[in-house]
Amino acid sequence: MSGRTEGKVAFITGAARGQGRSHAVRLAEEGADIIAVDLLEDIETAPYSMATSEDLDETVRQVKALGRRIVARQADVRELSQLKKALDEGVTELGKLDVVVAQAGILTMGSNTPEAFIDVVQVNLFGVVNAVTAAVPYLDRGASIILTGSTAALIRGSVDITGAGGLGYAHAKRHVARFGHDLARVYADRQIRVNVIHPTNVDTTMMDNEFMYNAFRPDVENPNREDMIPALTAKSPMGVPWLSPRDVSEAVLYLASDESKWVTGQQLKLDGGQLLADTNAGVPA
Ligand SMILES: NC(=O)c1ccc[n+]([C@@H]2O[C@H](COP(=O)([O-])OP(=O)(O)OC[C@H]3O[C@@H](n4cnc5c(N)ncnc54)[C@H](O)[C@@H]3O)[C@@H](O)[C@H]2O)c1
Repeated sequence: MSGRTEGKVAFITGAARGQGRSHAVRLAEEGADIIAVDLLEDIETAPYSMATSEDLDETVRQVKALGRRIVARQADVRELSQLKKALDEGVTELGKLDVVVAQAGILTMGSNTPEAFIDVVQVNLFGVVNAVTAAVPYLDRGASIILTGSTAALIRGSVDITGAGGLGYAHAKRHVARFGHDLARVYADRQIRVNVIHPTNVDTTMMDNEFMYNAFRPDVENPNREDMIPALTAKSPMGVPWLSPRDVSEAVLYLASDESKWVTGQQLKLDGGQLLADTNAGVPA
């Protein structure tokens, strides 16, 4: 049986772990080959570690185990030249490019310094612009560009209050949302689609770390993952503490596949109802 992304090649940033790895594996399960990049170095203003080369090796292993091909490279989304090189090598080996998943990101929440603001904007906003810039020359009619925003882009003040890093995160994600919308207009007549997904909390290292345990459970001494979960659940109208990376991958798969071939300019909220109370945006009065 033919898979939903059979014969497609997908470029994924931040693919060594978390949502990026999950997207690589899900798309590969449905027949795609993958070009994967990741930084593989820490960023000082982020209060948790970035992925390692062992993490990227594991993504490679999982994609290959599905019988798909993968070209994996170390590249920093802040450096356009590194992305261009990785893509050039990937397309040379895999033949073409159909799907872009620009989703590498950091959270510098808690760092109240100008550097924390700048770093997160450079990775989460300019890194997305760089990924698209590097990929566009390879894209043809029917291609799909998928950007990862966050509910932080849509709920004013949700992370802004946590200092310069949180402000920068929301700033970057709001502009990713806008960038996706405007880019969709620019590429519509070439039938290249651009959509933005906005997950609520997702069970990855970005959330599952000591900084977050303390942020959500200041009332507990040395809180852990289990202590944080009820606090996350309490904020969710549907009672879901966080999505699994796989939940997000299902949306990525839909947007990557031809099932969504006339869907563009969307801001797809994967929020467990988080935004229902806050906004009527897009809903007829
Ligand atoms: N986890 C959440 O709760 C959540 C919620 C909403 C949106 N998001 C967004 O989802 C995306 C994926 O994050 P995740 O949850 O998988 O977290 P994660 O930290 O597990 O994964 C992020 C990946 O990006 C990589 N990366 C960071 N900076 C990079 C750079 N400069 N160049 C290349 N790679 C880089 C990291 O090494 C890591 O592998 C991010 O854009 C994040 O903002 C996450």
